Amino acid sequence: MDAILTVEHLQKYYGSRGSVTRAIDDVNLRVEPGEFVGIMGASGSGKTTLLNCISTIDAPTSGRIFVEGRDITTLKSRELSRFRRERLGFVFQDCNLLDTLTAFENIALALTILKTPAGEIEGRVQKTAGLLGIADCLNKYPYQLSGGQRQRTAAARAIITDPALVLADEPTGALDSKSARLLLERFEALNEARGTTILMVTHDAFTASYCRRILFLRDGKSFTELVRGNDSRKAFFGKIIEVVTLLGGACDDVL
Ligand SMILES: Nc1ncnc2c1ncn2[C@@H]1O[C@H](COP(=O)(O)OP(=O)(O)O)[C@@H](O)[C@H]1O
Ligand SMILES: [Mg+2]
Repeated sequence: MDAILTVEHLQKYYGSRGSVTRAIDDVNLRVEPGEFVGIMGASGSGKTTLLNCISTIDAPTSGRIFVEGRDITTLKSRELSRFRRERLGFVFQDCNLLDTLTAFENIALALTILKTPAGEIEGRVQKTAGLLGIADCLNKYPYQLSGGQRQRTAAARAIITDPALVLADEPTGALDSKSARLLLERFEALNEARGTTILMVTHDAFTASYCRRILFLRDGKSFTELVRGNDSRKAFFGKIIEVVTLLGGACDDVL
């Protein structure tokens, strides 16, 4: 089967001669359909830069990125926004819900933008909300929801369009540990039951332990990779901590 995502020799440099930051320095990555992959590394290791290049928010200095076989580094701006809308789902640390819309309307908006027939919307929102455990929250406004419920609403909005790839940057960063666990269990279930392909950036070992495979970055370069295989989540967590220690133990410092 073809990869959902292929990153080839990606470089992203910031600054100019004299003071260049090699935020991403020759990274290669391949994500197959149905994978749940984590990107880990200390603060400043290039995680967000990598994700921003894949999500087309940022343009690479060199290298190529293919999503479903299409080289997205060559897309023009109109094609880019269409690609982003139709093929990607985003979950960020601060969930970016619209305050003046209910949870239902926030989630439905993603479908409206894609010109989904009105008759389909109600059912699809209900079904997705059920998957994320927020069926009771749909008539509430963001300020009436807990942080965890808001983040699961954002996740519902991200997956309702059936994107090829869901990109999440520190999705548990603003959540207490119970809400984080709930969100991650939903991600795990979406990945297992629906086959949603997820690429999640985190600096946190507990969050990363929900992934099936983890790429570790150090100073913009691939450092190593861990595959969960048949390990329990707890055993995998232990292995992650070992790599974090090798990396210099800096994964749990400030974001
Ligand atoms: N827009 C930018 N301009 C200049 N330097 C940047 C910019 N964005 C990130 N960087 C630098 O690139 C490196 C990687 O940053 P980032 O990808 O945000 O790391 P992480 O998400 O792993 O904490 C850091 O040294 C950061 O200071
Ligand atoms: Mg970051």
